[in-house]
Amino acid sequence: MEKFVVTGGAGFIGSHLAESLLNSGFPVTVIDNLSTGRKENLDGWSERAGPRFQALFIDINDTDGLRGAFADASCIFHLAAIPSVARSVENPAATQMANINGTLSVLTAARDAGVKRVVAASSSSVYGDDPNLPKKEERTGRCLSPYALSKFVTEEYCRLFYRLYGLETVVLRYFNVFGPRQDPNSHYAAVIPRFTTRLLTGSPPVVYGDGEQTRDFTYVSNVVEANLKAATQPAAAGEVFNIGCGGRTSLNELIAKLEGIIGSGLTPQYEAPRKGDVRDSLADIAKARRLLGYSPGTSLEDGLRKVVDHYRHILKAADGIS
Ligand SMILES: NC(=O)c1ccc[n+]([C@@H]2O[C@H](COP(=O)([O-])OP(=O)(O)OC[C@H]3O[C@@H](n4cnc5c(N)ncnc54)[C@H](O)[C@@H]3O)[C@@H](O)[C@H]2O)c1
Repeated sequence: MEKFVVTGGAGFIGSHLAESLLNSGFPVTVIDNLSTGRKENLDGWSERAGPRFQALFIDINDTDGLRGAFADASCIFHLAAIPSVARSVENPAATQMANINGTLSVLTAARDAGVKRVVAASSSSVYGDDPNLPKKEERTGRCLSPYALSKFVTEEYCRLFYRLYGLETVVLRYFNVFGPRQDPNSHYAAVIPRFTTRLLTGSPPVVYGDGEQTRDFTYVSNVVEANLKAATQPAAAGEVFNIGCGGRTSLNELIAKLEGIIGSGLTPQYEAPRKGDVRDSLADIAKARRLLGYSPGTSLEDGLRKVVDHYRHILKAADGIS
């Protein structure tokens, strides 16, 4: 049976992907240094999957450690990264080490171990200052943050490893992914978990900027589906794909949608915009539909309802709300 490796598998998206592979009966190894990932995301997996599940808590820059783990794997899903624009602006060297050096280490170990395919996580941030909407794969702009640059280099390394060594690489550019297991408390937290938990606990959501900036919010199960398709579609090798919903929502509209579900009666609090953030984002997903057979099965509204239920449950368990 095919074996899969998920780097960053203790993180938000990686843990959903690894869990889906395990639930389909495949052997899965998770590699994670737990810098932002959490062991609790893997709770109960060993009991459920037995020896089919392995977790290696190492850094992806440990190329020798990776080679052993990759030895009999058919596909590596590479999601490990420091995933924040704001953190990259504060500490570009750390982002370079994890996201650029780390990707080179993963690709080198995959090549050396004879792995067939690597599916790597990139980001809509590579569109940078390109003002055109919707974003099409072939037209990127200048990077606005070290994080965007790290994903640009990730993409270029993937392309080179396919050309130079025949290692099949597939790059997926995610657009603002949301869902359960996103950390709402970090200073760098994404907007949906932050807004949701603030509204649920009776605090106004904090918006950086005027709230009219737009994003293509994508529920995590859509991204998992895209990864599974990218692992198997022959035509995907060497390609880059946008993975979003193909819809555009401003932060003010997002808060209104969450308010429609939660009904807290709170209004947002506005603060100065953050450096490095792009203004608008909207994915053209025609290429992913055509070559991957990708179709976002969960809408923004359905995803938001699931997320509100998830955080309500967690907060109730922690006595944060009645
Ligand atoms: N969440 C989004 O909206 C979004 C959007 C675009 C791209 N992405 C990309 O998707 C991937 C997953 O992001 P996420 O949102 O799940 O974030 P996350 O922080 O939950 O997951 C990243 C994981 O990588 C691990 N990691 C970081 N550096 C590592 C290293 N040097 N060695 C081993 N493990 C390491 C972390 O511990 C964490 O578990 C990242 O590559 C991110 O850049 C995410």
